[in-house]
Amino acid sequence: MEKGLLDLHSLLRWFIIIFALAVIFNSIMGVGGKKPFGKKDKRLALFLMISCDIQLLVGLFLYFVGPWGMKNISNMGGMGAVMKDKVSRFWGVEHITGMLVAIILVHIGYSAIKKDIPDSSKFKKLFWYTLLAMVIIMATIPWPFRELVGRPLFPGMQ
Ligand code: HEM
Repeated sequence: MEKGLLDLHSLLRWFIIIFALAVIFNSIMGVGGKKPFGKKDKRLALFLMISCDIQLLVGLFLYFVGPWGMKNISNMGGMGAVMKDKVSRFWGVEHITGMLVAIILVHIGYSAIKKDIPDSSKFKKLFWYTLLAMVIIMATIPWPFRELVGRPLFPGMQ
């Protein structure tokens, strides 16, 4: 089950990246073309938020049950030792903190578009919050080229 959830977590990143890019692109088109903010625009942002929330749930499971979360912190003897080890620090602190901040930003963006503000402000807020979230997500994904913490691009790949 843990392997299946790790594979799901790995795959879900692509949904998040694609939805985030779509929201960013759609917001640029919305502001540029002075378009009204419609149901389709809201639904796109909702898809991004839902995929982030599922990712959060799976991530929390991996953190509490998998080898690189709580187990590793207790094996290392606490956060002091975790902070001194690059790999442990990445999984125990950087990945989780970065992704949590990014998911919070996605939520703030979504709640902004529910407010009674001009449509252009909705597109602009969505653009900035999603862009910031995207930068953090890209920076804290364990890409294969990352030294020590690199993981495959897709489940089942080396
Ligand atoms: C946008 C959000 C996130 C993205 C894009 C993301 C992406 C990834 C990727 C690509 C991996 C490597 C998967 C593999 O080995 O094939 C991973 C591993 C992991 N993630 Fe996330 N993650 C996100 C959020 C989170 C959150 C919020 C948590 C914890 C609360 C978390 C906890 C973990 C843990 C513990 C692992 C390592 C699992 C292990 O090897 O045992 N992730 N993540």
